[in-house]
Amino acid sequence: MDIYEELKKDHREIKMMLNELVGLDKDDDFRFLLISQIRSALLSHSRAEEAVLYNSLRTADGEPYKIGMKGYKEHFEIEALLRGLQFMDRVDANWKPMARKLKELLSSHLSNEEKEVFTLCKLMFNPVQAERMGRAFRELKNQVEQEGDAKTTMDMMVNLLPPKYSLKLMNNLKSLSP
Ligand SMILES: [Fe+2]
Ligand SMILES: [Fe+2]
Repeated sequence: MDIYEELKKDHREIKMMLNELVGLDKDDDFRFLLISQIRSALLSHSRAEEAVLYNSLRTADGEPYKIGMKGYKEHFEIEALLRGLQFMDRVDANWKPMARKLKELLSSHLSNEEKEVFTLCKLMFNPVQAERMGRAFRELKNQVEQEGDAKTTMDMMVNLLPPKYSLKLMNNLKSLSP
C-alpha cells in the first residue's frame, strides 16, 4: 500500500471510533476504554505521519513548508483536546461537548489531509516514492505502538528536528528497497 492508502485506512478507523464515542450514552462505562483506544490509534498514526509525510514537506520551501507546519499545529491542538477529554472523563464532568468538538476538529483535519496534503504530495513524490513512504509509515507506526505512550513526546521532538536532519531521514527512507 502506498502512503495515501495507509493513511486513509487509519483515518477511516479513527472516524469510526469517534462516531461511536459521540453516540455513547452519558453514563456508558465503555467511554473510558474507547477514549484510550482513540488516543493510542491517533498518537501512533500522527507520529509516523509527521516523520514520513510532514517532515518531507518541511524540507521544501514555500507552500509545502507552510502546509507541513500547519499539520504539526493541528496535531498539537487535537492531542491537547484529547488530553482534556480524558481529564473531563476522569472527573466525571460533562464530556460530551468536548467529544463533539474533538470529532469536528479531527474530521476537518483528516479531510484536509486527504485533499490539500495528498494533492500536494502527489505533485512532489512519484508512485515509487509513495510506496516507500507507505512502508516507512507502517514500520514507524509499529515502532511507536511497541514503545507506548511514554516515548511519544520524544518522538515528536525528533520529528521537529531542523530540516537538515529531516533530510537525512528522508534520504534513508529513499534507500529502502521498493
Ligand atoms: Fe492523518
Ligand atoms: Fe494528521
